[in-house]
Amino acid sequence: MPFPAQRPRRLRRTESIRRLVRETRLHPSRFILPLFVCPGEGVRREISAMPGNYQLSIDELVKECAGAHALGVGGVILFGLPESKDEQASGAYDDNGIVQRAIRALRREIPQLLIVTDVCNCEYTSHGHCGLVKDNDVDNDATLQWLAKSALSHAKAGADIVAPSDMMDGRVAAIRQTLDANHFEHIPILSYAAKYASSFYGPFREAAESAPQFGDRRGYQMDPANAREAMREIELDLAEGADMIMVKPAMPYLDIICEARRRFDAPIAAYQVSGEFSMIMAAARNGWIEQDRAMMESLTSIARAGADVILTYFAKAAARLLG
Ligand code: PBG
Repeated sequence: MPFPAQRPRRLRRTESIRRLVRETRLHPSRFILPLFVCPGEGVRREISAMPGNYQLSIDELVKECAGAHALGVGGVILFGLPESKDEQASGAYDDNGIVQRAIRALRREIPQLLIVTDVCNCEYTSHGHCGLVKDNDVDNDATLQWLAKSALSHAKAGADIVAPSDMMDGRVAAIRQTLDANHFEHIPILSYAAKYASSFYGPFREAAESAPQFGDRRGYQMDPANAREAMREIELDLAEGADMIMVKPAMPYLDIICEARRRFDAPIAAYQVSGEFSMIMAAARNGWIEQDRAMMESLTSIARAGADVILTYFAKAAARLLG
């Protein structure tokens, strides 16, 4: 046989051949755009560490969502900045809370928009932790009531999917029971099943004003060193009734996405978090990497690892490039 018999470069010679044999394809319908909604009117306050991302009042949020929807972005996930915070996170499950009002406005203005809500308490507690603090720790079972009430209030306002991100044990079951008992058995739960205690959430905590005022979240979010534990978390959430599961962050945890894809048949989402976004933006702004190529490569790698759905601050920019 003449050497070399196999020449893999043949299939890389032109863009038309490369496109033909491409294994992973991105599509805007796989993206979910995270958005931050705040009180007021006409507010569009840029988040300094996240260029192109804003704290938006409801009127501005509607415009932002209309833009994303027109680009074919799969949906949005909402985070709220309440008027005031307290020990009980009351803004989280208030039927007239910021997210609940935003959902109603979006439902009215853009009926076809897919609305996912983040179900958590950290944006609503005065101390910034994800639940009821007792003896310097987050009380798991007491927090479940708040989460179930929040999810129900989101569903009542018109959310399509609720996504608990708090990492309390048993929250999927608690939310499922409450939704079902109130005739929302058709609302799916996207559980942040494998959510790590990550430094890459830094810019988000500025955006959502949700940094814990003492301690950290390592008592409830996962240890970055653990992979098997992630499979156990996913298994438990599916058993409790999660319809889709999430791995978060995305790029530093591609092995987790890949293993989850191998083991589970439920749809898998991955969250390319604020720090992942900000790193690419910062390097691009310094002229160290090409923004568009780095963006598409990062999204492709997350899809290639096995994510069906990608939550990403690049949703609009990537959708624009995909045309
Ligand atoms: C709420 C929540 C966080 C993120 C999503 N939901 C912050 C945290 O857990 O501290 C992070 C998202 C991002 O960094 O983009 N618990």
